[in-house]
Amino acid sequence: MILSTTAPSARRETQAFIDQPHQLLIDGQWIPAASGKTFDVFNPADGSKLASVAEGEKADVDKAVAAARRAFDSGPWPAMTPSQRGKLIWKLADLMDRHIEEFAEIESLDNGKPKAVAAAADVPLAIDLFRYMAGWATKIEGTTIPISVPYLDGAEFHSYTLREPVGVVGQIIPWNFPLLMAAWKLGPALATGCTVVLKVAEETPLSALRLGHLIQEAGFPPGVVNIVTGFGETAGAALSAHPDVDKIAFTGSTEVGKLIVKGAGETNLKKVTLELGGKSPNIILPDADLPAAIAGAANAIFFNHGQCCCAGSRLFVHRSQFDQVVDGVATEAAKIKLGPGMHPDTTMGPMVSKIQQDRVCGYLDAGAHEGARAVIGGKRPESEGYFVEPTVLIDTKSSMKVIQEEIFGPVVAAVPFDDVDQLVQAANNSVYGLAAAVWTKDISAGHRLAKRIKAGTVWVNCYNVFDASLPFGGYKQSGWGREMGYEAINLYTQTKAVTLQLK
Ligand code: NAI
Ligand code: MG
Repeated sequence: MILSTTAPSARRETQAFIDQPHQLLIDGQWIPAASGKTFDVFNPADGSKLASVAEGEKADVDKAVAAARRAFDSGPWPAMTPSQRGKLIWKLADLMDRHIEEFAEIESLDNGKPKAVAAAADVPLAIDLFRYMAGWATKIEGTTIPISVPYLDGAEFHSYTLREPVGVVGQIIPWNFPLLMAAWKLGPALATGCTVVLKVAEETPLSALRLGHLIQEAGFPPGVVNIVTGFGETAGAALSAHPDVDKIAFTGSTEVGKLIVKGAGETNLKKVTLELGGKSPNIILPDADLPAAIAGAANAIFFNHGQCCCAGSRLFVHRSQFDQVVDGVATEAAKIKLGPGMHPDTTMGPMVSKIQQDRVCGYLDAGAHEGARAVIGGKRPESEGYFVEPTVLIDTKSSMKVIQEEIFGPVVAAVPFDDVDQLVQAANNSVYGLAAAVWTKDISAGHRLAKRIKAGTVWVNCYNVFDASLPFGGYKQSGWGREMGYEAINLYTQTKAVTLQLK
């Protein structure tokens, strides 16, 4: 099942980029960390050192925020027309188009995902997001509002709203889709005229740094996008507690999301949007097209090695079809080819890090200990790389850790149900509410369940369908606010009501 860890090497331009010194992008310049410190990033396919990156901390975050503040308040950025802003964002997308292969290789080496997947999904989605957001730059409008003011009889007014950028935004992103998460965050910020300090994940900083070079090439004014590499507890915490940051947009664990809310509360009550964990129910109703539902269930959990906040990690199947579906998903799991992302035959790469591999295997141990049974997988294979076998668990109970907690690995728990009310109760029995799916041929049943499931996204007869125009985010502890679509534009702007009295 595990492929040899030898894989084709990256193209020359990719390797040259990876090998160069990686610094912080602050005020339009690449500079070392104030402390001079660096940290290493690793290739998760074999644990070897991939690159060395500047270790930004509080002093660097302070510098980056000051640069973002200057760029927001004065200089060319606030003077630009919406059309000029839109054109710059579009230009960035065009530049990215010329580097799809390079981005895919960087993503594969740094994160572990198959290069072909990065080239087909991560990178094109990131490019498309920028183009979508470029279009919004010229369409951010206020309204005119006829007002009544009952205590000012006979007075006449003209009232309207302006939608203005929230200001300096701190953005903290994770490692599961490094480039795409950078795009989801930067796109709406740039379209609305905000300025940014982006803190990328310490596991996977490289693609955002490459993007930083293209941001410069596109001609964004200095200070509009600053990129700080470093650790969460230092650089991330400094950014989220910074008194001159107007908003934090975060994607990552619910645990850190709560720390960010606390940091905002203890400083300047900055606005906060959060895209957090999930434990998404994937539901196969008895009348579903079973082959499609089985393939969909495998994709729901195994895509990106299960390192998706919306992974379909709880698979609910009617008892009459339970064995058949479990067998089907296990058969799909058996077909998966584990290996280095750069190997053309690989369909599932390693976990992003040793820590993540240990975390996922810890859940597998906890599940086994509590009585869950792996019909396939359940272990880490012998390898230098951070692999975990695709796993299907049965015999679970709703109280088990593998049912309640986000595993963030290629591990699905299949759970039988008998009737729809019991199913809805079980599906909603989670602190999370990010995504869900329903497989059925009955249109009404699909719509009814879509209404009853408490989640920010519901897919019917599909899974993992994303688009720049579709709002994505969580109910309950899966987050605050939405990414993408017009909802994201709204969350990077604030409304000003202007009223003038007619004489
Ligand atoms: P994490 O939440 O610690 O890391 C995400 C980002 O937050 C990184 O850039 C990190 O440097 C930063 N960060 C960490 N501590 C911080 C702090 N105190 N203040 C500000 N920023 C901080 O996630 P981690 O440790 O990488 O993964 C742990 C679990 O989180 C995963 O197993 C998974 O369950 C969940 N997760 C969810 C993601 C999602 O897409 N919703 C993405 C990544 C992880
Ligand atoms: Mg963490």
